[in-house]
Amino acid sequence: MKLTGNTILITGGTSGIGLGFAEKFLELGNKVIICGRRVERLEQIIKNHPEMDALVCDVTDAVQRVELCDQVLAHSPKLNLLINNAGIQLMTDLTTPVDIEEVRSEIETNLTAPIHLASLFAGHLAAMAAEREAAIVNITSGLAFAPVSPMPVYCATKAAMHSLTMTLRHQLKTQAIKVFEIAPPAVDTDLGHEYRLDKSRSHGGIPITEFIDNAIQALEEDRLEAPIGMAADLRDKREKLFDLMNR
Ligand SMILES: NC(=O)c1ccc[n+]([C@@H]2O[C@H](COP(=O)([O-])OP(=O)(O)OC[C@H]3O[C@@H](n4cnc5c(N)ncnc54)[C@H](OP(=O)(O)O)[C@@H]3O)[C@@H](O)[C@H]2O)c1
Repeated sequence: MKLTGNTILITGGTSGIGLGFAEKFLELGNKVIICGRRVERLEQIIKNHPEMDALVCDVTDAVQRVELCDQVLAHSPKLNLLINNAGIQLMTDLTTPVDIEEVRSEIETNLTAPIHLASLFAGHLAAMAAEREAAIVNITSGLAFAPVSPMPVYCATKAAMHSLTMTLRHQLKTQAIKVFEIAPPAVDTDLGHEYRLDKSRSHGGIPITEFIDNAIQALEEDRLEAPIGMAADLRDKREKLFDLMNR
């Protein structure tokens, strides 16, 4: 995909991977719109990058998702790329009754919101595809291929997003909309920070810039399913096991 001259909406652009993508895409000559819940962060980012647009949106709220779509298309009618990036990662102990609101919020953020947003923007992106490339990028995780037990709901949402991305790709093919899956390995961001025992230490992820460079290359090379770094290893091992068991 050509990575210059696009108009891009990134959900969850206030930190980590979303902000990394936003700054990189800006540098490459694209128009970038970010959204998130933290107003002060959005204001600070716009101060640093006045050419960026920022919208306050809580993607767990279906009404706000519709408003986001309306606002973006009203102000940026050339939008041709949606990046479903916003995500949360919670620890869930399944040996005792779960906090059901937490579970709902994690599923709504990581799975329901990207499904809803993809469907809200699909019609517009299909129309744009006649003019220039149009695409949706879903940010999943290496944990979509091999779950870890302390965060079972998170891993389940990412596995579901992997499946969803495959079917979305198939449905939107007829509309000439490309659907990418970028599956990050552990990346050194704020994700799950509040649950870390030692908050002064990173969870050992790769630097954001290293991840972004690899993800950008995957998009440029039209690699529709792109596990990055360790995530590729997790996916390949699972595929090999599947082949072995089904030989
Ligand atoms: N870091 C990793 O190791 C890793 C690995 C695999 C996959 N990923 C995936 O990468 C994506 C980005 O995560 P990150 O690592 O960059 O974490 P992060 O630094 O915590 O960023 C998460 C972003 O999502 C936004 N967000 C969360 N809930 C939201 C909501 N309800 N409405 C709107 N925005 C919301 C946050 O903005 P506000 O708080 O301002 O709303 C923030 O901008 C996630 O989908 C995550 O699952 C990360």
